[in-house]
Amino acid sequence: MAEQDALARALDLARGYIASRAARPVRATATLGELRHALAGPLPEHPIDPTAVIDALARAVDPGLVTTTGPRYFGFVIGGALPATVAAEWLTAVWDQAATLYVMSPAAAVVEEIAGAWLIDLFGLPPHSSFGFVTGCHMANFTALCAARHELLRRAGWDVEADGLQGAPRLRVLVGAEVHVSVVAALRMLGIGSNQIVRVAADDQGRMRPDALAAALDAGAAETPTIICAQAGNVNSGAFDPLDAIADLAGGHQAWLHVDGAFGLWAAVSSTLTHHVRGLARVDSCATDAHKWLNVPYDSGLVFVAHPAAHRAAMSMSAAYLVRSPDEPREPMDWVPESSRRARGFAVYAALRSLGRSGVRDMIDRCCRLARRFADRLAQEPSIRILNDVVLNQVLVRIEPAGKDADAATRDALRIVQEEGVCWLGGSRWHDMDAMRISVSNWATTDDDVDRSADAIIRTARRQA
Ligand SMILES: Cc1ncc(COP(=O)(O)O)c(C=O)c1O
Repeated sequence: MAEQDALARALDLARGYIASRAARPVRATATLGELRHALAGPLPEHPIDPTAVIDALARAVDPGLVTTTGPRYFGFVIGGALPATVAAEWLTAVWDQAATLYVMSPAAAVVEEIAGAWLIDLFGLPPHSSFGFVTGCHMANFTALCAARHELLRRAGWDVEADGLQGAPRLRVLVGAEVHVSVVAALRMLGIGSNQIVRVAADDQGRMRPDALAAALDAGAAETPTIICAQAGNVNSGAFDPLDAIADLAGGHQAWLHVDGAFGLWAAVSSTLTHHVRGLARVDSCATDAHKWLNVPYDSGLVFVAHPAAHRAAMSMSAAYLVRSPDEPREPMDWVPESSRRARGFAVYAALRSLGRSGVRDMIDRCCRLARRFADRLAQEPSIRILNDVVLNQVLVRIEPAGKDADAATRDALRIVQEEGVCWLGGSRWHDMDAMRISVSNWATTDDDVDRSADAIIRTARRQA
């Protein structure tokens, strides 16, 4: 049968890809032109056998794939894909469930319910928290901030879902100077422009300064509805805003405290890291990703809100045909901005079940240990400087050859390391300096992978000297 044949072929191709993962170049090897040439052509006039389609697709895209699931990909903050999650994703496609209403897929609805409760327990969030499964932390930030907007305006006597923002009481939003761009973009979609946001000074690691936050809060009228967006895990340095002190200040001003913890929230699962997120149980909402550090395939983000009524009021909608189930299960669509969507809960459930509490903790701890190993090895090289305090899984590396332009040397070294293909890391700017950015986020990375990658960087740094 054509469907079975195509799946069997996909299984072969997947096995081959996984087997080659540790050896193939981490970067894509094809140029833009080569990829276009391999994939383009007129839209076929007639059907093609599914197995032949899959074969041709896999052949054409292979040189354009970045081995992000491999153990030496350290770019952006991109996790790998745990075996159970990949298998669960395959079945998610085979089952093709819409996680919208319970009646459309009782299985998808209940899996979300269970996985959400496990995550609340894992992060130590208030047990009554509501949650939603979204595409990524960007949409998780958006969802949480919708709930914040609803609740603060409700308290001010305004129904934002019915009456919109025009004429509504003004909202004040404070963010750290190192806020992630997705929070700013989410606020923009909520009607709060980037020029309307108050940016609070951060320290040298990128942490919001509580004294600066206190001053900013005192500068405004006490009754102004206020949202504070804090961060757990700076995208460059990995640093954490001091949540406990910020929660004290938020409480004193009846402000809604939101935490963007795309990867940093996972510090909560480890006894050696949890101090970084002290105060997390006191926040009003938080956002994270499963596709980063939980090593679930793309896409998978998570939002948690300590005020379920506000969360639901901001997200839910009704129509005559969207009939809710009489025994009142959790309806997945009540907690996310989308109506129809993939049943993302299956893969998250599979990740949590396959790792267990200790497995999640070990994976997070291992990545942090490997990040320190990376930094320690690189720091021994005279022309290499580590720019951040390595408190999590992020390392910022700069090449500083004596008497040479360090920005140019860092950019050149980055390009050479990427081209060589032993590992892949991205670039960034930190305190007006070019830097290479390492993020250790993959369950499969080993000491040997870090050593080989550090050697590649050191070799390149020596060539810049
Ligand atoms: C701190 C932080 N917040 C939000 C995001 C956005 O997450 P996503 O791209 O998964 O939507 C990222 C992505 O790197 C991040 O690092």
